[in-house]
Amino acid sequence: MGEADLALESVTKTFTLGPQELHVLQGCDLALAPGDALAITGRSGSGKSTLLHLIGTLDEPSSGTLRIGGEDPFALSEPELARFRNRTVGFIFQDHHLLPQYTVLENVMIPTLAFPGEGGDEAWARELLERVGLSDRLAHRPAELSGGERQRVAVARALVNRPALLLCDEPTGNLDKKNADAVIDLLLELNAGSERILVVVTHSAEIAARFPRRAELDEGRCVEA
Ligand SMILES: Nc1ncnc2c1ncn2[C@@H]1O[C@H](COP(=O)(O)OP(=O)(O)O)[C@@H](O)[C@H]1O
Ligand SMILES: [Mg+2]
Repeated sequence: MGEADLALESVTKTFTLGPQELHVLQGCDLALAPGDALAITGRSGSGKSTLLHLIGTLDEPSSGTLRIGGEDPFALSEPELARFRNRTVGFIFQDHHLLPQYTVLENVMIPTLAFPGEGGDEAWARELLERVGLSDRLAHRPAELSGGERQRVAVARALVNRPALLLCDEPTGNLDKKNADAVIDLLLELNAGSERILVVVTHSAEIAARFPRRAELDEGRCVEA
């Protein structure tokens, strides 16, 4: 899937822990078009990661509708959904989640190998690594990189399947300011003029201010600035 709209209507998420019901999302509406870049802020525990998981189809809403490219991904069978997620969504987390035993280039290639007969596009992986400024680190292993470099590898890996959605959960949370700024520069730069939707969860008002669209999670709702 090259590009897709994202639409959430009255999305709720409730977690049940024994006798306790936790109403984390209580009616989230959100509409994003190809090329949009949105920052989501909100206090710790406000449901930012929960929302990002739903958008990334890692978890299903309790009620409401979520459509990607006009389709309800949760209508797919489990294997179809796994394939859809692999092709449509790129994730970047606070921790880079690179595999220590593999090189930089191999780490970037891993998402292309999930479904046999597809992908394996090494030329594109190399080009992405060039765009994130790491062409001279292809054979390094994660332990041989700085924290900022590791996160830039994670950016290239998230883009290797040409996802319609790039979802980042506090991607700069483990970085110092200089590296954090560089990763945000890179994300915004890579998205400018692309048809990809970029969603970045961040604690930092300063980082959020750099995004064309901003929303805050408050009382289980997504309030756009
Ligand atoms: N799988 C889960 N089961 C039960 N409670 C959860 C689960 N995931 C998150 N929560 C709870 O939901 C609330 C929101 O969590 P989260 O989305 O991680 O917040 P944020 O990312 O904004 O800090 C928290 O109170 C958290 O404890
Ligand atoms: Mg979180």
